[in-house]
Amino acid sequence: MKTAKLYSFFILALIGCINTLNAQLDEKTETKITEIISKMTLDQKIGQLALRGTSSRTKVLPEQLKQDVRDGKVGAFLNVMKTDYVDELQTIAVKESALGIPLVFSRDVIHGFKTIFPIPLGLAASWDAETAKTSARVSAIEGSSFGVRWTFAPMLDIARDSRWGRIAESPGEDPYLASVLAKAYVEGFQTDNLADQTAMASCAKHFIGYGAAIGGRDYNTAIIHEPLLRNVYLKPFEAAIEAGAPTVMTSFNEVNGVPASGNKWLLSDVLRKEMNFNGFVVSDWDSVIEMIAHGYAADEKHAAELALNAGLDMEMTSKSYDNHVKALLKEGKVKEEQIDFLVRNILRIKFQLNLFEKPYRLKSHTGNLYAPEHLAKAKAAAIKSSVLLKNENNTLPLAATTKVAVIGPLADAPREQLGTWTFDGEKEHSVTPLQAFTDAKASFTFVKALTHSRDQSEKKFEAAVKAAEQSDVVVVFAGEEAILSGEAHSRANIDLPGAQEALIKAVAKTGKPVVLVIMAGRPITITNIIDDVDTVLMAWHPGTMAGPALYDIIYGKSEPQGRLPVTWPKTSGQLPLFYNHKNTGRPSSVESFVQMDDIPVGAWQSSLGNTTHYLDAGFTPHFPFGYGLGYTTFALSNLKLSKTELTKAETLEVTVSIKNTGDRAGEEVVQLYIQDKVGSLTRPVRELKRFKRVKLNKGETKTVSFSIAAKDLEFVNNTMKSVLESGEFNIYVGQHSASGLMATFTLK
Ligand code: BGC
Repeated sequence: MKTAKLYSFFILALIGCINTLNAQLDEKTETKITEIISKMTLDQKIGQLALRGTSSRTKVLPEQLKQDVRDGKVGAFLNVMKTDYVDELQTIAVKESALGIPLVFSRDVIHGFKTIFPIPLGLAASWDAETAKTSARVSAIEGSSFGVRWTFAPMLDIARDSRWGRIAESPGEDPYLASVLAKAYVEGFQTDNLADQTAMASCAKHFIGYGAAIGGRDYNTAIIHEPLLRNVYLKPFEAAIEAGAPTVMTSFNEVNGVPASGNKWLLSDVLRKEMNFNGFVVSDWDSVIEMIAHGYAADEKHAAELALNAGLDMEMTSKSYDNHVKALLKEGKVKEEQIDFLVRNILRIKFQLNLFEKPYRLKSHTGNLYAPEHLAKAKAAAIKSSVLLKNENNTLPLAATTKVAVIGPLADAPREQLGTWTFDGEKEHSVTPLQAFTDAKASFTFVKALTHSRDQSEKKFEAAVKAAEQSDVVVVFAGEEAILSGEAHSRANIDLPGAQEALIKAVAKTGKPVVLVIMAGRPITITNIIDDVDTVLMAWHPGTMAGPALYDIIYGKSEPQGRLPVTWPKTSGQLPLFYNHKNTGRPSSVESFVQMDDIPVGAWQSSLGNTTHYLDAGFTPHFPFGYGLGYTTFALSNLKLSKTELTKAETLEVTVSIKNTGDRAGEEVVQLYIQDKVGSLTRPVRELKRFKRVKLNKGETKTVSFSIAAKDLEFVNNTMKSVLESGEFNIYVGQHSASGLMATFTLK
């Protein structure tokens, strides 16, 4: 006991010392920054605020660009992908510019640099912080070898509408899951030491509400009630900043009438004061001057004034700061202290990246591009991310002797399986499912049938049907090409494009079991074909190692381990759709549901007894948030709470037993949701608060425990205060957001 006390005293003392040391270091850095700023001309200050780009295809580095660096007119670069150029530009900045301030090189390294991991929505489906962290670590190791020390990731936009193309890049619909992932990404990109030359500064983007675009149309208006902004949209950003994200990117959209890039309340009050953000804010591509099109800025000069005064430190690509700061200062519309403040924020991060000491790309750091261990991690992530949605008669896994017809446009599409935002991943390194089947010498025949996902031609269906007839099982690789999701690629109809549904129906007619493997950037509505297929496996765009990962799943060497990070709709007419909705005054139920065809022709208008639903699509999604099958089954029992009455100072311990009731080992994600039954602001029907992955052998039972602190029950109400309200709460512990055992407790 005494030793334990002594030990904790020692640890506390050590933490105290480290904190003091850090504070001293911070103070030292701030003094150095003050010195640098005191020597800077106005032009050099304006230069630090500029993020310039070169095209990846630039053949010769333009002389003017070099001169700009020499003159101190550039603070950072994006997309300089020739290492010679990185070295040359940095040498000019350090050796030939007046103050020798180093540049920082940036890039969208989103879900891999060369070795591509599943798209972020897929990584979110892993429900696994370690997987997210690993993907970021490998990305940073590879990317930093090209001199990239700042990545425009993680994207933390909560997305509740699968029509939105950038849902592919998002952490899904839930603020808690997104926050867990946010922390993991930041830790992975940065390690615990930004100065490490394999670390990349992360950039939490897009601030804010980009995912709430009306109708899922990219760049569109977001209208977000402030408590919702705080309870949902800001949450993952808070987590990223707490984990040490040193930069934040503003979003293209307006929120409640004010574009993010000119929103002083958002950038100064919320981000800096409330969220204690101490890094720098970068605009999105031209988003400062887009405030003119928004109808918020009268012209470029006005846009610069708004952004500068809002606290936007660095302008990406457009040149409104460059063109207008001087005049704005002269006219007194912007103060020089504000410019100094913005410059200081940028220099602080350059110091944290240790660029003043070690500005150059480490030549000995090769990045281990496509190293076997990187590929193995990408493969493991693809397995963790794949979600089994249906598996009638245990069609999967297949026995090694099964004769398989491999069909479809995505079975051998090396570029498409990489997904959106993969500037640097090369399709030549992709291992496709066809390649994996071939390498493993599986018993199969292959008919592509459609040249790409949008192909409308049914000419090759006959060969596909013939292959199906001559096989035991058909595996169809269908979905979307990479370009059909991602930025600017929203869709109103999210069925399988082209003639893919017709292809599935044609092969299903043979009576052979059909396994549908979907590779796509979003949930795909499969209502038209769900009855034609026995199995549905959602693989998202799985990345470089799609083939080997899917092969292992199909033949049962691994089980699919993903769970849905977004609600899967039956039809896009249901969107936006999310599990943590409000109950309404007329909550939907099986009993009150009225199906369109049950209404008598000529019926009088009536609404009594009716509830919130669609007459045609009903009120449930196709698959709920958190859902996913494996190759075994689990049963939960014995939900216990440590107390049924809790004071605000106490912690609630929740335990549940889980048994593997199937006939092989497997993993389950046990999910804990709460419902605050009555609030001063109505509360969602459920909110995810904890989850745990558990591995169980056949027949094994384990106890899973969770702690819920009072803080987890807080929410921001209409007074914009975080409140903890007494009352009754339901706790659900289950395998997805629409299932679970229930218990109740009262917060005193
Ligand atoms: C995107 C950002 C990205 C930037 C730089 C923009 O179009 O919205 O997410 O980081 O381009 O490539």
